[in-house]
Amino acid sequence: MAATAKAHGGRLIVVSNRVGPLKDTGRAGGLAVALVDTLRRTGGLWFGWSGDVSEQGTFGPLKSEHSRNVRLATLDLSQNDHDEYYAGFANRMLWPLLHYRLDIADFDRRSEDGYRRVNERFAARLAPMVEPGDTLWVHDYHFFRLAEGLRAAGLQNPIGFFLHVPFPGPDILAALPHHNDLLRAMLAYDLLGFQTERDRDNFVRCAVEEVGARNLGDGVLELEGRRTRVGAFPIGIDADSFAEYAVSPEARINRKRMEKALVGRRQIIGVDRIDYSKGLNERFRAFERLLVDFPEHRSTVSLLQIAPPSRGELEAYSDMRRQLERVAGHVNGRFADIDWTPIRFLTRGMPRRALAGLYRSSRVGLVTPLRDGMNLVAKEYIAAQDPEDPGVLVLSRFAGAAEQLKEALIVNPYSTVGVAETLHKALAMPLDERQHRWRVLFERIREHDAHAFASSFLDALAKAQD
Ligand code: G6P
Repeated sequence: MAATAKAHGGRLIVVSNRVGPLKDTGRAGGLAVALVDTLRRTGGLWFGWSGDVSEQGTFGPLKSEHSRNVRLATLDLSQNDHDEYYAGFANRMLWPLLHYRLDIADFDRRSEDGYRRVNERFAARLAPMVEPGDTLWVHDYHFFRLAEGLRAAGLQNPIGFFLHVPFPGPDILAALPHHNDLLRAMLAYDLLGFQTERDRDNFVRCAVEEVGARNLGDGVLELEGRRTRVGAFPIGIDADSFAEYAVSPEARINRKRMEKALVGRRQIIGVDRIDYSKGLNERFRAFERLLVDFPEHRSTVSLLQIAPPSRGELEAYSDMRRQLERVAGHVNGRFADIDWTPIRFLTRGMPRRALAGLYRSSRVGLVTPLRDGMNLVAKEYIAAQDPEDPGVLVLSRFAGAAEQLKEALIVNPYSTVGVAETLHKALAMPLDERQHRWRVLFERIREHDAHAFASSFLDALAKAQD
């Protein structure tokens, strides 16, 4: 990537709704860290929402922060923009739609206008900061329309887009009013990157069937004389750093506390934002089924679910938290003993080093989303394991990670019985099989880590305008 970007002589500009942090706070995800590393190689700018709501919103002053050759520039949103663009169109309509949940997708004309307006405003504020030779890399479903606004401002620079979440086929996408218009806006990018081949193929079908784009083969689409490249770029983590986190002093402290509490019992761990796409309800039910169908695990296995709340202003999210508390309470009431709690449900986040320690002291990593772009928890769980005594990853077939991590135990998260049986198998797996599966998985996530992801995307983007 360094060579590519230098050959173009320009900086990298990253755009995403949530930005930074530029310095490692111990809480930032692997992707944020890899993006900062990538930005440092060429120098650059990270542009997005400040996270604040103010009266002036996108018309207010740019907030700016520097760390060596990287600048962070952010804008506030007005209350109206926040409600319509972020909470409304992005999270009440696009998020459920892109996770195949038409039953809860909530279309609202005003929110759609707000989304368009905020994309236009971000493009208008960004355009004057772009220099010829700069490369732009836009992230996620908040900014499907950004390139359209940047092109309208006359920008000719390479502009790439990477979607972190799944992309459905035309049968689902067509439920979005004006989806044709959104697809056309996406084709203003030079490169569209998806997590999996399935997502890329879904997009190609949408573009061909719904707006009449021509598929020229070899990952190239054409509409009205304009070409757009499409590709699958599975996102990775910084596997080596995460493996080091797992043996850091913070991780050790947590492991000791954990092991003291477990007194020889085995632990299954789940780590997810509270979100209906994560299959938490189904997961708790599957754990209950394990205790019913395989009573030998009563008092000997427990489930630790770390679940930081998110998007609390949306009813679908606050309702979910209450519902999960009820289900966990029900399972605990039914099976707990005076010295054993079956489900420990922690509704808060955790620093990454401490989390790595918990992964390492858990025999099973349970990652069962109903639909997920990639799911980096699956990769972090692998990276944190002890090579001598690794745990087993149980992974939903509907997580993008399943396309890459085939040596995990793959499950259908909707099948309570199937997940329970697989958990039983994971808990019984002999050491040599655990080691074998783990070695293959660890090598794969190291090879396809966050740096490889950023390089392969930016290399493809550098070629996209040729
Ligand atoms: C997902 C999305 C990200 C988003 C994150 C947290 O991972 O792909 O774009 O930032 O969820 O959600 P939030 O709404 O809090 O930004």
